[in-house]
Amino acid sequence: LTSLPLLARGKVRDNYAVGDDRILMVASDRISAFDVIMGEPIPGKGALLTKLSLFWFDRLGPKGLNICPIHLTGDAPESVVSPAEVPQVVDRSMLVQRLKPIPVEAVVRGYLAGSGWKAYQESRSVCGVALPEGLQNASKLPEPIYTPAAKAEMGEHDENITFEKTVEMVGADVAGQIRDLAIALYKAAADIALKKGIIIADTKFEFGLDKAGKVVLMDEVLTPDSSRYWPAESYVVGENPPSYDKQFLRDWLEAAKVSGQPWDKAPPAP
Ligand code: C5P
Repeated sequence: LTSLPLLARGKVRDNYAVGDDRILMVASDRISAFDVIMGEPIPGKGALLTKLSLFWFDRLGPKGLNICPIHLTGDAPESVVSPAEVPQVVDRSMLVQRLKPIPVEAVVRGYLAGSGWKAYQESRSVCGVALPEGLQNASKLPEPIYTPAAKAEMGEHDENITFEKTVEMVGADVAGQIRDLAIALYKAAADIALKKGIIIADTKFEFGLDKAGKVVLMDEVLTPDSSRYWPAESYVVGENPPSYDKQFLRDWLEAAKVSGQPWDKAPPAP
């Protein structure tokens, strides 16, 4: 886009300034994991993920269950670009409030997978949350747990941290609010998805503060880029479930790293 100033080019999304208080977030078709951006985009990915985010904002935000305020302004993204640029933003963008991002990745897990499963095997706890003995890979947890992470510098993996650490970072009030909201959002979404045969094993939320200091849900929400989506019908405890998300890419990158293959060579289709 040339009609708006580029604020930041993310791994997958590009953000443009719309005046001082709004942002146009454009989801590209790029795919990335572990800070590696793959050379080949997935056609239609940006539009699909935007649709999913909008679905969840609708269900969980003020128009639906009203769990917390959301960053959408309600205005059409097409209204802020030139007519010639409408095709570049249509279906793949969100016009949102400009917020002050809270530097905590609010991860909630209902099942043990990924770094949660790794941590459990080492210490029977994740981010300082002690878990019962005898859990396996993909086990459903007795209750969803909040396992925050801190954004690492480019090129490094995010670091799982304790809730106490988030209190040090953002204060007890905001830390407590985002924990409680993240758990409430996850539980509501997991219930909705399960009725359609999908297990949302875990997910990550991001929040920001508006000018009044209110906590607002931002970024993409409950997409397969920020969550693990498992088909409930093939779920078996102890096994790696087929994952309708980017787990296949994480697995491929980890294997490629071990074998010394170049990371930007496209993996085979899952
Ligand atoms: O890798 P890990 O098991 O810690 O991820 C937990 C959940 O949080 C996954 O659904 C993953 O997609 C999401 N996540 C994310 N972005 C991060 C860290 C985790 O979307 N930076």
